[in-house]
Amino acid sequence: MTQIKAAITGICGYVPDYILTNAELETMVDTSDEWITSRTGIKERRILKGEGMGTSHMGAEAVKGLLRKTDTRPQDIDLIICSTTTPDFVFPASANIISDMVGAKNAFSYDMQAACSGFLYAMSTASQFIETGRYKKVIVVGADKMSSIVDYQDRSTCIIFGDGAGAALLEPSTDGNGLIDFVLKSDGSGINHLVQKAGGSRRPPSIETVTNREHYIYQEGAAVFKFAVTNMAEAAAQIMERNRLTSGQVKWLCPHQANKRIISATADRMGIGEEKVMINIHKYGNTTNATLPLALWDYESQLRKGDNIVFAAFGGGFTWGAAYLKWAYDGDQFA
Ligand code: UT7
Repeated sequence: MTQIKAAITGICGYVPDYILTNAELETMVDTSDEWITSRTGIKERRILKGEGMGTSHMGAEAVKGLLRKTDTRPQDIDLIICSTTTPDFVFPASANIISDMVGAKNAFSYDMQAACSGFLYAMSTASQFIETGRYKKVIVVGADKMSSIVDYQDRSTCIIFGDGAGAALLEPSTDGNGLIDFVLKSDGSGINHLVQKAGGSRRPPSIETVTNREHYIYQEGAAVFKFAVTNMAEAAAQIMERNRLTSGQVKWLCPHQANKRIISATADRMGIGEEKVMINIHKYGNTTNATLPLALWDYESQLRKGDNIVFAAFGGGFTWGAAYLKWAYDGDQFA
């Protein structure tokens, strides 16, 4: 029997129009374009403005673009998984809202929370539904309105994050292309270094939590950096080893875009040059769940059927991992 794999058959992104530059951040906190560029690689990020606009708006725009370009009818979608750390509401799930916005009337949908590794977790999970043979069209959305939880008085976090969304269509494939393997890891003790302290059931919103600025991202940057650099590189190396992939056989690294220095360390560990690394951190910053699909979207026209792509991510939780996917189509077909 031919084995079914989950292939990405289309990718689309959405970023809001407003550009928050390093120059503008210089007017908000004590920082400089030079510091931000040399320590992170970021030049600008997008911010979703407008009353009542949440993560689902960006997710739905990405899905609508995906349906249009792949000529897919919304009613033919079986499942939508949205990985997000900034859902519109505690409940219902943003995936439910996105399904409604795009008219995916026959889909079931749910959210997944794995911070910056969310898209990797969601893509891996989605692939299992496809591999059973029961589900034919699954959309994975990675979306975050990070600006809703960023403290614009905290110079060590406000310079990093941005807003955006990306969506991938997954369909069954029997030609050997698709998701081949994944390694997913988590370590809950990471809460000590990276957390939004209030707003959940342990510390519900109160005047005190708001006054103490506990609804914003708390990050011990240097500690997180150390974990990220080691674990992201290690996961990428592990996926290569167990699939006997040499650095020469890897066509692309699609890494989480948190810090250019973490990305470079991962590429070094894999033994690949910068020309094989998807990078867009300079224009979007860290969009958390959206970094991987936005990178695929940016590089789509350069991708060829059969390309070996290694994904790697690290984020809050801690969560991290890597995946090996064989690209399923010539990207310039959508140009
Ligand atoms: O995506 C989810 C996971 N998150 C990550 O992977 C993020 C990992 N961490 C990082 O990317 C980096 O740690 C940061 C970019 C957040 C910070 O860079 P760093 O090189 O680790 O800086 P640091 O926190 O160790 O701070 C070094 C110095 C400090 O000054 P002193 O104490 O040495 O005088 C900070 O106060 O840099 C200072 N600093 C800044 N200076 C100018 C921190 N932020 C800024 C800033 N502008 N924006």
